Amino acid sequence: MSLKEVLPGRLGFGTAPLGNMFRAIPDDEARATVEAAWDHGVRYYDTAPFYGAGLAEERLGEVLATRPRDGYVLSTKVGRVVLDERETAAADFGEKGGIFAHGNPNKMLHAWTADATERSIEGSLKRLGVDRLDVVWVHDIAQDFHGDLWVRKFEEARTGAFRVLSRLRDEGVIKAWGLGVNKTEPIEMTLALDEPQPDGFLLAGRYTLLDHGHALQRLLPLAEEQHVGMVVGGPYSSGILAGGAHFEYQQAPPGIVERVGRLKDLAARHGVSIKAAALQFSLAHPVAVAAVPGATRPGRIAEDVAALDERVPAAFWHDLRAAGLVSPAAPLPNGA
Ligand SMILES: NC(=O)c1ccc[n+]([C@@H]2O[C@H](COP(=O)([O-])OP(=O)(O)OC[C@H]3O[C@@H](n4cnc5c(N)ncnc54)[C@H](OP(=O)(O)O)[C@@H]3O)[C@@H](O)[C@H]2O)c1
Repeated sequence: MSLKEVLPGRLGFGTAPLGNMFRAIPDDEARATVEAAWDHGVRYYDTAPFYGAGLAEERLGEVLATRPRDGYVLSTKVGRVVLDERETAAADFGEKGGIFAHGNPNKMLHAWTADATERSIEGSLKRLGVDRLDVVWVHDIAQDFHGDLWVRKFEEARTGAFRVLSRLRDEGVIKAWGLGVNKTEPIEMTLALDEPQPDGFLLAGRYTLLDHGHALQRLLPLAEEQHVGMVVGGPYSSGILAGGAHFEYQQAPPGIVERVGRLKDLAARHGVSIKAAALQFSLAHPVAVAAVPGATRPGRIAEDVAALDERVPAAFWHDLRAAGLVSPAAPLPNGA
């Protein structure tokens, strides 16, 4: 089954922010946000043990427990096993700093071996309160978390997680698997392997209005050739493209703020919302099967749905390209 056949639509919901990313989110606000996604017809949910050391999975599971299991598609990730013991050391999340400083206090084992993969899945099923997962992504085997050692982690995953997930997919236990990363290279490397191939990948932050050139060079042509689908993670570049202040999970630097200002000015001249421009741009690539914006406030979901449905005139896309604000190689919506 292709990733497109597995996913129920173009708009999913990403739960990274519900792991108390950046701030301690009250439980009722988190619950209301997931409920808003459900009420607006969103039926694909992405989560991970990493998001607040299990907190996002617990919060998502609490709402989904009252919904029919066949009524939605669920993806989580492997690579971090949430342990019962408390973390005492300062958590090291690579480039991402302390983004989940407000998450659960549990220690996490960072491991991509076969054994850790099985343990990770077991923990996710418990926290989510479900008896099966639909899609499993191998999480963050990339430079942003491991620096030059990322190739070692990749190798651990290749001989561990990849094989376990391929087997589970072949046995029909899960429907699809792939990588969930913020960098293109690990996916390119996977697609070049002469081994059982993933069904797709979740690429975060690398196919957005602000950053897409690198993905267009090698990864996306390769994925298209191999009929491997992409879920676009972080379509708002972690917030700045939706009206927030973050880019790449940090305060946006002046150069990015200036570029977003130019995008917003152009969008305003055409009466287009920046959210619609961002979401529709990310979904315009033929390899993109869905996008998973994240949110912690229920009102965001109606905006996301409206952004997907908004009519964006072809003249906007033409002007965007003419202004050099997107790569000339990027496919634009409706063949603009
Ligand atoms: N390695 C991986 O596999 C990986 C990495 C990153 C992301 N992902 C996936 O992709 C999903 C989405 O990424 P993301 O949540 O990090 O980033 P995102 O979708 O690009 O942006 C989400 C942020 O946008 C903000 N936002 C939305 N509407 C807004 C508005 N009108 N005004 C101000 N701010 C607004 C939200 O703020 P509020 O919180 O205030 O609502 C939220 O924090 C994740 O949840 C995860 O599922 C996966």
